[in-house]
Amino acid sequence: MNSLTLIQPDDWHVHVRTGAVLNTVIAHTARQFARAIIMPNLKPPVTTVAMALDYREEILQALPKGSDFQPLMTLYLTNQTTVEEVKKAAESEHVYAFKLYPAGATTNSDAGVSDLTALYSVLEAMQKYDLPLLIHGEVTDANCDIFDRERVFIERTLTAIVKQFPDLRIVLEHVTTEEAVQFVESASNKIAATITPQHLLYNRNAILAGGIRPHYYCLPILKREKHRLALVKAATSGNPKFFLGTDSAPHLTHTKENACGCAGCYSAYAAIELYAQAFEQANALEHLEGFASFYGADFYKLPRNTKTIILEKRDWTVPASYDEITPLKANEILNWKIKQ
Ligand code: DOR
Ligand code: ZN
Repeated sequence: MNSLTLIQPDDWHVHVRTGAVLNTVIAHTARQFARAIIMPNLKPPVTTVAMALDYREEILQALPKGSDFQPLMTLYLTNQTTVEEVKKAAESEHVYAFKLYPAGATTNSDAGVSDLTALYSVLEAMQKYDLPLLIHGEVTDANCDIFDRERVFIERTLTAIVKQFPDLRIVLEHVTTEEAVQFVESASNKIAATITPQHLLYNRNAILAGGIRPHYYCLPILKREKHRLALVKAATSGNPKFFLGTDSAPHLTHTKENACGCAGCYSAYAAIELYAQAFEQANALEHLEGFASFYGADFYKLPRNTKTIILEKRDWTVPASYDEITPLKANEILNWKIKQ
């Protein structure tokens, strides 16, 4: 197959930041995707509808001229989030979900939730207004091995939430384990998951074998090969519970190549090409369009896109950096390219 036409995809999980970084990365996302769910973990976090509307304006201003890309905003759940704010979010035409970061789980999660049971009235309101809850599913218990944190979160926390709020729509973001795949598969159709390109393409050897490679370090961390295989199977199965969410998370190169490097892989520059590579390796290119362009829109109850994009089978070398951001697969060859 030398070219592939797809309905334009959407990115259901992306970090675009603010300021200079936003200016660099938003053009990459907008070139490929019609819409994207924008993560709210800024400093300070986007906790109110008013802040989300300001952030949305900043994103629109940073878009290349003529772009019709639509940022879909989210609010950052904290211990102080009120039922009133949930109602405001539900009434806003620009806010699409709440994001739960367990406090301390990842980049800019200090303001995250420390005791979810104290927020049950807020989750109740989200269920009532049918606003999805997007979850970074890792425990923050210092005694829990970093490779087990997703599985333990499902056992200790997620199972209880799903039971308590059976009608709450939940996206378990960036799933990384066989256990997460099984959990989502066996849950009701209110529960879905996003999968990143790095978790489809790599296992934990990419970070650690033959030297420490910080550009493969993200959270949840890459796992063993058996988990990668379970993710590939889920993504390429045609099961609408699994859809595209890059978790593209730009950090300046010096903050990753550091004694205490930041978590996050920058994939937005070629997200759909990276997914095409993963699907091709699994001999499943025919399932790419559902995963990338249909199932997320269906879950969010938004219309599917109608424009198309064309991917061509053509080798190209990924630059060493985009401004000061080192991309995933820097200096390597990708074999799909979106046609402009
Ligand atoms: O690797 C990650 N980077 N995981 C996250 O959950 C957050 C993200 C970021 O914001 O850099
Ligand atoms: Zn993320």
